[in-house]
Amino acid sequence: MITGVTGQDGSYLSEFLLEKGYDVHGIIRRSSVDYRERIAHLEGHPGFHLHYADLGDSMSIVKAVDRVCPDEIYNLAAQSHVQVSFDSPEFTADVDATGVLRVLEAVRACHLEKTCRVYQASTSELYGKVEEVPQNENTPFHPYSPYAVAKLYGYWIIKEYREAYGMYCCSGILFNHESERRGETFVTRKITLAAARIAQGRQDKLYLGNLSSLRDWGYAKDYVECMWLILQQEKPEDFVIATGVQHSVREFCELAFKYAGIGLRFEGEGADEKGVCIAGPENLVGKVLVEVSPDFYRPTDVVNLWGDPAKARARLGWDPQKTSFEELVRLMVDSDMRKVAAEDAGERVRKMNLAEYLEKGIVK
Ligand code: NAP
Ligand code: GDD
Repeated sequence: MITGVTGQDGSYLSEFLLEKGYDVHGIIRRSSVDYRERIAHLEGHPGFHLHYADLGDSMSIVKAVDRVCPDEIYNLAAQSHVQVSFDSPEFTADVDATGVLRVLEAVRACHLEKTCRVYQASTSELYGKVEEVPQNENTPFHPYSPYAVAKLYGYWIIKEYREAYGMYCCSGILFNHESERRGETFVTRKITLAAARIAQGRQDKLYLGNLSSLRDWGYAKDYVECMWLILQQEKPEDFVIATGVQHSVREFCELAFKYAGIGLRFEGEGADEKGVCIAGPENLVGKVLVEVSPDFYRPTDVVNLWGDPAKARARLGWDPQKTSFEELVRLMVDSDMRKVAAEDAGERVRKMNLAEYLEKGIVK
């Protein structure tokens, strides 16, 4: 069973488990628009099943767990945007903290605590205002947003149920992982989409917040394998999952624009820093393409995440460098270049009049 199946990680994990021959039961929640783009290609697969439930509604989770009787639960559902957690702290706490408790209690209510293993999607945000670099499984936590505080509860309640009831439940402390399916308001995807749009004349400028923030960015497709590996160990334990390599938002931006065919140079400091085009299409050279907007500053910002994946490498046999930073940025930019070009082509087709349609043989 996967909660959060419609999210970035849920979609990759579903593919991974289906390939292993699992029956996958995904939890979806009701919304006015059926936004299931990431899993649309899996619907109709004989091993893929969907159930309505909500992490804010304990009865719905108990019913889903009772119906499915899962061997493994991957609890990925969350309000996962750190900046949004400052605007909706109570909702974030309900889903990201109490929601974890609801899943654990559902397992107990269905008498599955001896047979059902639970993976909790924990996060490097727990390290927050970091107390050491790089961070490993023994680094003290210092959560620095309502999201991180809620996730800290999730981490501890998993540990508590492991010790109190002997349940096989554990947390993967995952550092940032991105992909072509990443939500468009997370910084990496916001940058790759903007680079593609600017390169194709569909956007003038990109506004960002803290350019100096440092992250350990990996590829989501590589990380879902670890979620599975964590649940296949003899004893339940928590693991840090990271690449061990750190870059700034500024560096991500420079590389993404480079892959989109635009050379960028950053000038100035703080809120006055700007990314100027120094190479690429003639109409862009000399223009300011990236600016800082305080709208994207956070009341408290986590600025130095850098993971130490030594335990995962040794115990799970997992390769943290499977996809390099350069490959990750390249595949995200390539995907967004294609997406923007396709949108462009779609719009041109819509604008054609019937005569052109007939002439080009699109309508007969
Ligand atoms: P995501 O793309 O934002 O997906 C979140 C999922 O949670 C979506 O399927 C969403 O459903 C679902 N959800 C939200 N509220 C729910 C509720 N009340 N009931 C049921 N489902 C709900 O996040 P992601 O990047 O895949 O991350 C997966 C998990 O890993 C999250 O818990 C996140 O906090 C954690 N994490 C992520 C990263 C990262 O870098 N990606 C790193 C560390 C930890 P809708 O589609 O209906 O909104
Ligand atoms: N989103 C966003 N938008 N972030 C920006 C921007 C911007 O315009 N400009 C700079 N940043 C900075 C943020 O201040 C932050 O320091 C960094 O870029 C990364 O922001 P996000 O991409 O939003 O990710 P996050 O690190 O806050 O959270 C993600 O990773 C966590 C793991 O460390 C999410 O996926 C969380 O769910 C996850 O737990």
